[in-house]
Amino acid sequence: MVQSLIDSPANLNGSDQLPDHAVEVRNLVKVYGHGETSKLALKGLNLDIPRGSIFGLLGPNGAGKSTLINIMAGLVLKTSGSVSVWGRDVTSDPRGAKAAIGVVPQELNLDPFFTPRELLDVQAGMFGVPRAQRRTMEILEMVGLADKADAYARALSGGMRRRLLVAKAMVHSPPVLVLDEPTAGVDVELRRQLWEQVLLLNARGVTILLTTHYLEEAEQLCDRIAIIDQGQLLACDTKDNLLNKLESKRLVITVEYLPNPLPEPLSKFQIRIVGPDQLEADCAHGDGSAMAVLDGIRAAGLTIRDISTQEAGLEDLFLRLTSHKEST
Ligand SMILES: Nc1ncnc2c1ncn2[C@@H]1O[C@H](COP(=O)(O)OP(=O)(O)O)[C@@H](O)[C@H]1O
Ligand SMILES: [Mg+2]
Repeated sequence: MVQSLIDSPANLNGSDQLPDHAVEVRNLVKVYGHGETSKLALKGLNLDIPRGSIFGLLGPNGAGKSTLINIMAGLVLKTSGSVSVWGRDVTSDPRGAKAAIGVVPQELNLDPFFTPRELLDVQAGMFGVPRAQRRTMEILEMVGLADKADAYARALSGGMRRRLLVAKAMVHSPPVLVLDEPTAGVDVELRRQLWEQVLLLNARGVTILLTTHYLEEAEQLCDRIAIIDQGQLLACDTKDNLLNKLESKRLVITVEYLPNPLPEPLSKFQIRIVGPDQLEADCAHGDGSAMAVLDGIRAAGLTIRDISTQEAGLEDLFLRLTSHKEST
C-alpha cells in the first residue's frame, strides 16, 4: 500500500528519464528588501543535490538555509541565478517545480480546527490531486496517524503534529522532500520516529533534503552534506569524504610558560593559543607534521608538560568553519 507512494518519482516526468540531480542551484543570489536595510542572504550559491540522496544542509542561524529552501519551494522569489527541482526551473516552470517538492516547514503551523483527514484533503485539492488519486488514509498510515484521522489537530501531541506536517508535504507524492530543522525542540523518541520515516521514504526513492543543527544527526543520517554560512557554501561533499578530510589530528599542548605572542619561529605552524598555558595545533594525519610542531615548540625554547590529541569530527569542522559567528 505505501509502496504506491514511490510511483510518482519515477513517473513525474512522464518518461523513464530521471534527472541525475534532484535539485540544481546555480549562482543563486537573494537580496531581501531595498536600499540601506537590504540584506544579502545568498551570495551566489551553487549546489547539486543528487537524486536519491539524503542531503544535509548545515549552517548557523541566518546562514540562508530557509531562504534557499523557500526559493526551491516557490515561496520566496530569488534575486538572480537559477534553481531547478527535478529538472524544472522554478522561474520558467513554477508549477512543475512546485509539484516536485514537498516542504515540512520549521514551524508547526497547523490549523487547530482541521482533522488530519481534512487537512490532507485540502492540501491535495490545492495541488490539484484528483479525488480518485488521493491517498489520504495511506499517507496517514505511513506516518502512524491513521487512528487520528478524524481527531482535531489541536488534540494531537507535538510529535503527531510534526508527522502530520510530513504527511501534508507528501500528499502530492513529490520526489523531493524538504525538512527545515525538523528536530529543533523535538524529543528523542519523536526524533527517532521522524528519522525512521525519512529513511523509509528515502528507501522508496524520495530524495531528502534536511537542515539541522544536530550535527550528529547529519553524520548519522545524511550521505551528503553541505555547510553554508552567511549565504555562502563553505563545504559540500559526501559525508565520508568530509569526515576523511577531518581525519586531521588536533594536538592540545600544555607548556610550562607560554609567551604571548608566540616566538616568531612558530608562525610557520598552524598554532593557536587556547589557554594560559595551552596551545592547539591542527596536523594532517600521518604525515609527520605533529612531530614537526612539537619539535618546533621545543626549539622555540618552550617546555612541554603535556600533550593530548583530539580526533576532529564533523562537529568540529562545523564549529571551526562557522566560529566567527560566535565572536561577533
Ligand atoms: N523576509 C525577510 N526579510 C528580510 N531579511 C530576511 C528575511 N528572511 C530572512 N532574512 C535574513 O536573511 C538571512 C538568512 O535567513 P534564513 O534563510 O532564515 O537563515 P537560516 O534559515 O539559515 O537561519 C538572515 O540574515 C535573515 O535575517
Ligand atoms: Mg531557517
